[in-house]
Amino acid sequence: MTAPTGGGPDDRDRPAEVVDVAGILAGAQLAVATAGSSRHLDEVETELLGKRAPLSAAARQLGTLEAEARRDRGRAIQEARAAIEHLLAERRREVTEAERHQRLVDDRLDLTEVVCSEVRSTVGRGHLHLVTTTRDALEDVFVGMGFRVAEGPEVESDWYNFGALNIPPAHPARGMFDTFYLAVGAPESTMLRTHTSPVQVHLMEEAVAAGSLPIHAVMPGRCYRRDTPDARHLPVFHQMEGLVVDRGISFADLAGTIETFTTAYFGEGISARLRPAYFPFTEPSAEFEITCALCHGAGCRTCSHTGWIELGGCGMVDPAVLAATGIDAGTWSGFAFGFGIDRCAQMRHGISDMRALVENDIRFLRQF
Ligand code: DAH
Repeated sequence: MTAPTGGGPDDRDRPAEVVDVAGILAGAQLAVATAGSSRHLDEVETELLGKRAPLSAAARQLGTLEAEARRDRGRAIQEARAAIEHLLAERRREVTEAERHQRLVDDRLDLTEVVCSEVRSTVGRGHLHLVTTTRDALEDVFVGMGFRVAEGPEVESDWYNFGALNIPPAHPARGMFDTFYLAVGAPESTMLRTHTSPVQVHLMEEAVAAGSLPIHAVMPGRCYRRDTPDARHLPVFHQMEGLVVDRGISFADLAGTIETFTTAYFGEGISARLRPAYFPFTEPSAEFEITCALCHGAGCRTCSHTGWIELGGCGMVDPAVLAATGIDAGTWSGFAFGFGIDRCAQMRHGISDMRALVENDIRFLRQF
């Protein structure tokens, strides 16, 4: 048998036997398997199934055969065609997938490359600010005690920052807070929050609306007061508020919570104490202080020679505050507290002047 030749209009005149279908199929298998790209595969397809392909030539020669031979040969050609089409389709899938993968690899931009190899060695990568890591650590302590973490807005209305907290207009307690008012709405109606206590009001309102009392939450966030910066004060500072509203809550629960959190965060070497105080939103109220970490209670400039540093205030939620948010004070009672996060960072790390936290001196910041 002679090798198949290319097809042409005069194939019909040649004897049909010259085309070896089995041989064509074997050759096709090899050609398809070794085609490495879709372009190459296109060429192979034309060679195998195109007008000038041996199979096409064989089909054209069918007319010269006797009826029975034509049927057998026709079927063999059809089967070979179908087999080749199948081989091509399979291979095309593999090749396309490989090409797609290669394109993804080639197109990938490694944006970390420059930072890692060149910049990093000279500039360094930076890290979270001490106030942020302190807030995270305090959150961890409270989450460990069963509190959840919530947040509220920094711009507040008079109602949330004062009114709902039992501080009506002209109440002398407003003098405790030197407030930054915003030129929005009626005069003194909108302000930067002076404490995180308004978040308590949001949580109580939400719990009443959702019917989801009790509440056990801490609320960290940024606060603003028109204070002159000094060793213990910043006009922009951070507080963490705490609120528990449940059945049968007593002052002992509050004292235990303060004791547990200060010990967990500052360690056994620092003691905490409560002193009677006044806040309009709690009754009774207390201030809580810890031993000054800089002088260990001996007295120094940072603690104004008292040996104690005030962390925050606390107390039993005033029934007037529960009523303002629609909570039945006959069924529910609660305690609340609020303290300075920056103050905690200062005491935990023995920082004598709080202003260092915001001066952005990299030599100071990189120590933490
Ligand atoms: N909001 C008070 C302040 O900034 C601190 C405070 C006192 C918060 C008593 C409380 C509390 O939740 O019960 O000075």
